[in-house]
Amino acid sequence: MSEDKVTITLGGKTTECPVLVGTENEYAINIDKLREDTGFVTLDFGYKNTGATTSKITFLDGELGILRYRGYEIADLAEKSNFVEVAYLLLYGELPTTAQLADFNQKLKDNSDIPAEVATILKALPKGTHPMAQLAAVTVVLSGVYKDGAKLTDENYINILAKFPVLVAMIIRNSQGLDFVANDKNLDYVANFLHMAFGKPASDVLIDAMDKLLILHADHEQNCSTSTVRMVGSSNANVYASVSAGISALWGPLHGGANQAVLEQLEAIEKDGGDTAKFVAMAKDKASGFRLMGFGHRVYKNFDPRAKILKKACDEVLDDLGVQDKKLTIAVELEQAALNDDYFVSRKLYPNVDFYSGIIYQAIGFPTDTFTTLFALGRLPGWVAQWKELKENKEPIGRPRQIYLGATVRPYSDITER
Ligand code: ACO
Repeated sequence: MSEDKVTITLGGKTTECPVLVGTENEYAINIDKLREDTGFVTLDFGYKNTGATTSKITFLDGELGILRYRGYEIADLAEKSNFVEVAYLLLYGELPTTAQLADFNQKLKDNSDIPAEVATILKALPKGTHPMAQLAAVTVVLSGVYKDGAKLTDENYINILAKFPVLVAMIIRNSQGLDFVANDKNLDYVANFLHMAFGKPASDVLIDAMDKLLILHADHEQNCSTSTVRMVGSSNANVYASVSAGISALWGPLHGGANQAVLEQLEAIEKDGGDTAKFVAMAKDKASGFRLMGFGHRVYKNFDPRAKILKKACDEVLDDLGVQDKKLTIAVELEQAALNDDYFVSRKLYPNVDFYSGIIYQAIGFPTDTFTTLFALGRLPGWVAQWKELKENKEPIGRPRQIYLGATVRPYSDITER
């Protein structure tokens, strides 16, 4: 808390708002008492300027391009850690000891089998159901099997973390009409996921690239899907229902669905003859309603630190796999065109994490419509850690206000008189 106070006087009524200072010197005016004292509320479409909570999990500074989980730089974690260790860090706040990590890994393996009913449900879903719809559906179905999902227990976090890669791999196969591959508990988290998704052992390069991708997606403070998980969790809904809602929020092309949209856009540009200048011009023309997918970010207004790491990883993976693809040439051209164009520069629109992740997923061989499930797999530890924090903080149910702009009271008229 700071010594500063903001005094607001409205309609002759005054309130004093304390100023909260975060550990990274972020300042916030606490308006808790504003409505009670003055009758006014604040209005902030898209919560662009509103802190919905306090959190100890992730710090990001969009201007400086900083992203840290529990104080650790994303670049260090991507280079030196692994996804399971990062999941532990997000959940429990500290890096694990060797024994703690071994125990965590073992528990993830022990709890990874999927109930038979869930596999049956997956098979019974209408053909062509989007992989994100499949994932949201079977995640909430888990609450029918694990009925204590609203409790703040280790079993709950571990159960969902353990089952998720198996579910995502099953969905990736299901959406291609392929049989499921057995869950192999001798393999580690990411290796088993890739084995289950592709039906063959993955190379170390692919395991490393996937691990890095998952780490980079693991948390991103109060974004759309995470806020959704916290909002649903605030009603005391169980962890499966809360995460399922987060999956639905992530699906949209303005959020996680952008990785699919990026590839589809690159495909469309390729089909159209590959003239990137034409599409850059369209993106600048507001009347076209066209946006360059994978460009721009709500908080990163200089560069997305995850994109910087992924650009390097992207070059390495493509090199290692020897992938030659016209779409990749188009992607590089778009990136260069945008980085040198005043429209994009003045609006601080840079390639975001989804621009490069889509390209890597495509090179690894994931079908385009499954890309966002990979984002969900990465984001899961963040969602669960945020759900846990919300409950530990005993936060109240989320319930924003509104400013009503509709009709004022009017008499009901009988249908014969209209
Ligand atoms: N292409 C062209 N113009 C754009 C783009 C884009 N991708 N993104 C923003 N703009 C323009 C807007 O038209 C607006 O222009 P104006 O000031 O002349 O009206 C200006 O840049 C600011 O854009 P906003 O939409 O106000 O920015 P906001 O912060 O609300 O949106 C968002 C951020 C949703 C990411 C946006 O940049 C976008 O739609 N990008 C494409 C989709 C995408 O890649 N999403 C992934 C986000 S990353 C993630 O979820 C992991």
